[in-house]
Amino acid sequence: MCGIVGFTGKQQAAPILLEGLEKLEYRGYDSAGLAISDGERVNVVKCMGRLAALREKSNNGKSVAGCVGIGHTRWATHGRPSDENSHPHVSENGRIAIVHNGIIENYAQIKEMLINRGRVFKSETDTEVAAQLIDYYYEGSILEAVAKASRELEGSYALGIICADEPETIVGLKSHAPLIVAYGEEGNFFASDVMAVVKYTKTVSYLEDDEIAVVTDKDIKFYTSFLDEIKKEKVTVDWDISSTDKGGYEHYMFKEIMEQPEAVKRTIAPYIIDGRAELSSVLDKAYINSLSRIYIVACGSSYHVGVIAKYNIEKLARVPVEVVLASEFRYCDPIVDKSTLVICISQSGETADTLEAQNEAKRLGALTLAIVNVEGSSIAKSADKVIYTKAGPEIAVATTKAYSTQLAVTILIALYVAECRGTIAAEEYAEIMRQLDVLPVTLEKILADKANIQRLAYQHFNNEDLFFIGRNIDYALSLEGSLKLKEISYIHSEAYPAGELKHGTISLVVDNMLVIAVASYGKLVDKTLSNALEVKARGAHVMGITTDSLRSHVEKATDEIITIPDAHDVLLPSLAVLPLQLFAYYVALYRGCDIDKPRNLAKSVTVE
Ligand code: AGP
Repeated sequence: MCGIVGFTGKQQAAPILLEGLEKLEYRGYDSAGLAISDGERVNVVKCMGRLAALREKSNNGKSVAGCVGIGHTRWATHGRPSDENSHPHVSENGRIAIVHNGIIENYAQIKEMLINRGRVFKSETDTEVAAQLIDYYYEGSILEAVAKASRELEGSYALGIICADEPETIVGLKSHAPLIVAYGEEGNFFASDVMAVVKYTKTVSYLEDDEIAVVTDKDIKFYTSFLDEIKKEKVTVDWDISSTDKGGYEHYMFKEIMEQPEAVKRTIAPYIIDGRAELSSVLDKAYINSLSRIYIVACGSSYHVGVIAKYNIEKLARVPVEVVLASEFRYCDPIVDKSTLVICISQSGETADTLEAQNEAKRLGALTLAIVNVEGSSIAKSADKVIYTKAGPEIAVATTKAYSTQLAVTILIALYVAECRGTIAAEEYAEIMRQLDVLPVTLEKILADKANIQRLAYQHFNNEDLFFIGRNIDYALSLEGSLKLKEISYIHSEAYPAGELKHGTISLVVDNMLVIAVASYGKLVDKTLSNALEVKARGAHVMGITTDSLRSHVEKATDEIITIPDAHDVLLPSLAVLPLQLFAYYVALYRGCDIDKPRNLAKSVTVE
């Protein structure tokens, strides 16, 4: 969602902030702005639309001179996208300017209090309320004013603040939304994430909730909201600048699809020891044997990983698994106690619903295990146990490599739990491990066959409505295939359990409608094919996705076919997801969509 960058140093701030904001574009936004201190005043430039519009309006930052400033990309929550509602917002007297990510829940009460004391507001946003509140408390110390305001503000927010009367300083404040500070050689920063600053420095500190960072060119100091000074650890991040560019590809999404073999290899390698899935450093064997149930909680694609993991864990380890959307888990009074393992899956580690669901699980006494991509993120920090996926920075809004690495981790978990509980035969275990070991090579082979998928995408990119069908793991994978297509190509699609079509949905099938039948799971392939024939009989055009050895069988019931190498059932979705990602990518390409930044979507959803 919104992106924040702040800089104070010896160089002109605006060009550095614009560059930083460009690195945060992936988070999703609809307007952008800068506030720069020239030593006497704080000058603001902001507008609706992409950063290119802000570059033009500010003459590439030259119209706002000064070495200290804050910048913002806004994803609208309170107030529609407009020039006026864009950040930064300034206090009535122009002294305080702030940028904000998140939602201030009690903004209406604070606004009323300030209006009663004569303050006049220009915008509809909760952010302007925070700017005015900080100014209301300003009596010569920006730190004290921010501290006082922070004790009144409620909600989830990260704020970046600049004050005309203290022109060398920028101040950061965080509560349930991410903010880091970064130590550069020629100036210091704060930002929503490392991506914005990694060109200048890899040394960062993570702010905790209700902590304030006072950042100057010379140093960074940290305080509680009661003004006690605190010391923070400096951390070196292992992301390099090359991982944040497109590496010669037209889109980040395509680059990230192609990076999947390496990403999966990096992720699973630390947990495969002597041919075994070795997770005892994360989950104690005695604990695994005492488990009564597992919950998997996540949103979007991470949730879809959970749906596949349920099938795999139940199949191999015979432990009941419930998969619940994080936004539902929080409010469904889940049956959780200390014999329940709650696995939260998140690429960003900042998804508000997943974070709160994890906190709820902890409160109810469960052990929480987070599968997270971004190190030092809120979900990683608050979980009891963490397994990091090593996908590296994922910039395209539509997840690909994070999904594949999450899925690989859940296979390791299924194997580990199954071995601990003695529910898997030695031969089957060895066979899955053997295939897992060569999974990166298998993924490379599938990616090498992308021309066939591109051809099929060209044939079908004009469809406006389609279905993905499948059973068991094939259905679980269809959920992801359908979401990928929807989010980047804007085609309406639905994933349906194939056996459920006849109970209502088949009424939507019309002549020439494309139905993608995922039919890789050998045990149920005939059942899925019967359903494929039912839709064909009603005029649908069926594309089958199956394994090499089932090809000739599936061909009989479909109009065209994509195949993946044969594999053990638990690994099939890891293979079949690649053609689905590529299909969505090429369809969106032919439709001329903004693939990396689809409309209305944000990469990391930090509000409920
Ligand atoms: C998928 O392509 C989307 N980006 C989205 O569904 C995403 O998976 C979801 O918002 C969860 O994000 P997280 O993994 O960062 O928690």
